[in-house]
Amino acid sequence: MDFKEKYGPWAFIAGASFGLGAALAENAAERGLNVVTLARNAALLEENAEQLRERYGAKVRVLPGDLTSTEIVQTIADATEDIEVGLFVYNATVASRGRFLDVAIEDTLKSVTINCVVLPMLAKIFATKMAARGRGGIGIVTSLSATAGSVYYAAYNAGKAFQWIFGETLWSELGEAGIDVNTLFAGAMPSPGYTRHIERLDPAYGVGSDSADLLERARANMFHPTPPDVAAKALYDQLSHGPVCFSFPGDEYVGVGALALPRAEAISLWRQVQETPLRTK
Ligand SMILES: NC(=O)c1ccc[n+]([C@@H]2O[C@H](COP(=O)([O-])OP(=O)(O)OC[C@H]3O[C@@H](n4cnc5c(N)ncnc54)[C@H](OP(=O)(O)O)[C@@H]3O)[C@@H](O)[C@H]2O)c1
Repeated sequence: MDFKEKYGPWAFIAGASFGLGAALAENAAERGLNVVTLARNAALLEENAEQLRERYGAKVRVLPGDLTSTEIVQTIADATEDIEVGLFVYNATVASRGRFLDVAIEDTLKSVTINCVVLPMLAKIFATKMAARGRGGIGIVTSLSATAGSVYYAAYNAGKAFQWIFGETLWSELGEAGIDVNTLFAGAMPSPGYTRHIERLDPAYGVGSDSADLLERARANMFHPTPPDVAAKALYDQLSHGPVCFSFPGDEYVGVGALALPRAEAISLWRQVQETPLRTK
């Protein structure tokens, strides 16, 4: 079966207004699927939708909504009741930066809800219908930061680890029902907030793209973020080859290397990445 036969006719992309999510929606439309896109920014969703209709002749439904509240789940179920969603992709996240004691508990819980509560609720709805049809695909976007604790992102890193292990179990169980599941360990990508952050760092730490040293390689990857369309293509190309995948070999080198380290060393690695020195001029 080709992509459209196996994962069509509709894709549902959670977190699709910009960056990787918008690229995932576009790549699905390019592969012949109709798309439902969800995020908070309704104007951006509508603008992207118009482009997908024009470029690929895809049907696109936009669904503005906030995934940090479980109330959105019933809205999504109702809005997709009349269509066959053969591809469910979960890309949205909340990452409140700051030390655990400094981040408001409300923000910590938003991160937990969007990453660890709404994802399984939606997966249950879409996977139940896919299993009844005997086909479908689920893509979960986790992060290299799921591989260890670090600093500044206690709830985010933990939520991304939840997504990784949740995705692996779905891969194990749902494969028998004809559903492909793959979890993408995304590395650095140029979202607006991310780009502002990188511009403040000392570029001397971004030169180790070929280094065998994990810290140098991780920092270099950070300075050379993967274009979202490359990461989107990587997830879809590898959808039937789960349980996990990477956007490019440089991310895989760091991810697999970090997982092989003793825990304290893995935490130290990611902490040093987070604490990369700022530029002085
Ligand atoms: N960027 C990186 O360097 C990086 C690195 C590793 C992993 N990742 C992973 O890659 C994925 C995409 O990250 P990103 O940096 O491209 O963008 P992002 O800022 O995490 O946003 C991704 C999408 O989610 C939507 N979104 C955010 N909060 C939402 C909410 N409360 N309810 C509904 N939608 C919401 C955003 O649109 P609205 O603002 O319009 O809602 C956007 O469309 C995430 O899962 C992240 O963990 C990213």
